[in-house]
Amino acid sequence: MGGIVGCFARDGCFERLFSALNRLEYRGYDSAGIALLSGEGAFSVRKKKGGVAAIAGEPLAGSVGIGHTRWATHGAPSDVNAHPHLCGKFALVHNGVVENDAALRAELAAAGERFLSETDSELIVHLIARAYAGDFFAAVSAACARIEGSYAVAVLCADHPDTIVCARRGSPLVAGAGGGALYVCSDIPALCGSAAYICPAEEGEFVVIRAGEIGFFRADGSPVPGKVFTRVRGAARPHAVGAKTHMEAEIAEVPAALAGTLASLKEADLSACRAPFRAARRVLAVGCGTAYHAALSFCGLLAAEGVPSLCRPASEAAALAAGEGDVLVAVSQSGETADTLAAARAARARGAFLLAVTNVEQSSLASLAQAALFLRAGPEVAVAATKSYNCQLLCLYFLAARLLAARSTAPAWEQSLAALPALARRAFDSFSAVSALAAAWQDARGMYFLGRGQDAVTAREGALKVKEIAYIFAEGLPAGELKHGPLALVEEGFPVALICTSRALIRKCATAAAEVSARGGRVALFSQYGEALAIPAAFRIRLPAAPEPLMPALAVIPLPHLACRLALLRGHDPDRPRNLAKSVTVE
Ligand code: G6P
Repeated sequence: MGGIVGCFARDGCFERLFSALNRLEYRGYDSAGIALLSGEGAFSVRKKKGGVAAIAGEPLAGSVGIGHTRWATHGAPSDVNAHPHLCGKFALVHNGVVENDAALRAELAAAGERFLSETDSELIVHLIARAYAGDFFAAVSAACARIEGSYAVAVLCADHPDTIVCARRGSPLVAGAGGGALYVCSDIPALCGSAAYICPAEEGEFVVIRAGEIGFFRADGSPVPGKVFTRVRGAARPHAVGAKTHMEAEIAEVPAALAGTLASLKEADLSACRAPFRAARRVLAVGCGTAYHAALSFCGLLAAEGVPSLCRPASEAAALAAGEGDVLVAVSQSGETADTLAAARAARARGAFLLAVTNVEQSSLASLAQAALFLRAGPEVAVAATKSYNCQLLCLYFLAARLLAARSTAPAWEQSLAALPALARRAFDSFSAVSALAAAWQDARGMYFLGRGQDAVTAREGALKVKEIAYIFAEGLPAGELKHGPLALVEEGFPVALICTSRALIRKCATAAAEVSARGGRVALFSQYGEALAIPAAFRIRLPAAPEPLMPALAVIPLPHLACRLALLRGHDPDRPRNLAKSVTVE
C-alpha cells in the first residue's frame, strides 16, 4: 500500500515527483522510490528504505517518471521491496493489494519468472512484461484483468519514452494538469500546489499520459467520454511550522478549524436528506480509527434523543446490514479509507441513503454519497487525527440537530454550536497542567482512560492517541467496566485518566476513582464541574463548559496534547508513528 505518482514535465520532472511524494507521505513512509525514463528509453531509478527524504539528492534526468511512497503489507520495509519494481522493459508503482498473490506467484515462477522482492506489486510488472507484444496499453490492461484485489498502478515502458499508462480498481487515482506538467496521483491533496486542474479516474478506468496529452480509457482501449477537469479545491499541505511538529500545530489549529467547519455548515445543502431523515428506519454510522469514534459519539447522541441508531467500525459494517430505509453516515477525514468506502458502496448498493462527512471535497467518498458535509478543517498532515475529530463532531452535532428537527423539534443545544471555536480555545488553558501530567506519566507501561456515557467514547479516543504515538499500552473503557476485570492491572502508581462531563454521573465516576485510588492508582480527572471535587484525584484538569451533549468536542482537546507530550518526552516523532499511515487504502 502507499501512494503513487506519475509526472510528465519537460523541466524538473524529478523535483515535481519528489515534492508530490513528500505530500503523499501520510500514506506510508516505510520506503520511497522514483524511476525516470530518458528519451532513449533508459531507466534511472532511486529507491530506498525510509521516508521520502531517503531518496533526496541529485535529480535524476528525464521528463517522464513515476514515484511511490510505501506502507508495507507484503514484505518488510527494505530497499529491495521499495517501488518502482522493474521487469524487462517496464517499471511500475502500485498502491493496493493483490489478493491472488500466491496463485499468481506460483504460476509466474512455474513459467520461469524470478522475483527480486517479496511484494505482491512485483508480480504485476511481470504480468505486464509477459503480456507485451508491442502494444503498451494492451499489456497493462491484460495484466490488470488478472489481478484480484485492488490497485492503482502507473507504468513506464522503455519502448514508449513519452508515455505513462495508469489504471485503477479499488484504489484511488486522479489526473492533474498545471504549471507545465501533467500528473497522475493517488490523492488530490498531494497535487494541491502543483496541479491547477484535476479529474478523478473512476473504477476500472485507465489514464494515459502520452506526448504531452492526457486521456481516459476503458480496459478495451476505447476513450471514456465526458471527462471534465475541474479547478483544484483545497489548500496546499503546509510545511513544518517552525520547530513544532505537525501534530502540535494541528492541535493549535482546532479553534480555527472549527470556525471553518461552522462556515461550511452555513452553506451545507441538506435538502436531499429531508425525506430520508424523516422516514429513516435506522440511522447508521461507520468510520475507522478516530473517525469511528466520531461516528460512535454521533450514534450515542441520537440514541439519547430516542432515534434508533447503530454504529460499527467500517470494517465490520456487514453486521449493520444497511439497506432500504436506512440512512448511513460515513465519516472519514480523507474520504479515501478503503474500509469506509467498501461499507459505503455496499450500503448504497442495497438501497441505503448515503451521507458523507469528510474533509476532502473531491474525495471518493464524497462522490459516492448522495449528500455530504465538509469539515473544511484545512489539511491534516500528522498521522494521528486531531483537529479533524473536533470538526467531525461539530458536523455530526449539526447533522443530529437537523435530523431531530426533521423528525420532531430541533434540540436546544443547537444554538450553542457557534460557541464551540471560542470554547475550544479556552480548553488550551489546561495545557500546562496536561504537560505536567505527561511528565509524571512518561515512564508508564500502561494506562486506562475511563468515562461513562458519552465520555466512554472520549476515553477510547484518548487511549488510541496514546497507543499510536507514545507507544504506551492504553485502553479506553466505560468506567463501570473497571471492576469487571481491568481493575486487576491497577497497582501503585498506575495512571488512570477519568473523564466526567455529565453532572448526573459525578457520583458514579467518584466510585470508579475511589476503586483506582484504593489500589494505589493515580487518577487524573478531566471535568468542567466544580462539584467534581467530590471525585478523588491526584491531578485535576478543568474543562470549559458547554451544554453536555456537546462536551465530547471539548473534553477531547487535552488528550492529543497529553499523547503528543508523552511521545516527545519518550523520544518519538508524533507526526510519523511506526507501522501506521494516515490514509489506509487497503481493506
Ligand atoms: C488511519 C489513521 C487514523 C484515522 C483513520 C481513518 O488509521 O492512522 O488516524 O483516524 O485512518 O482515516 P479517515 O481518513 O478515514 O478519517
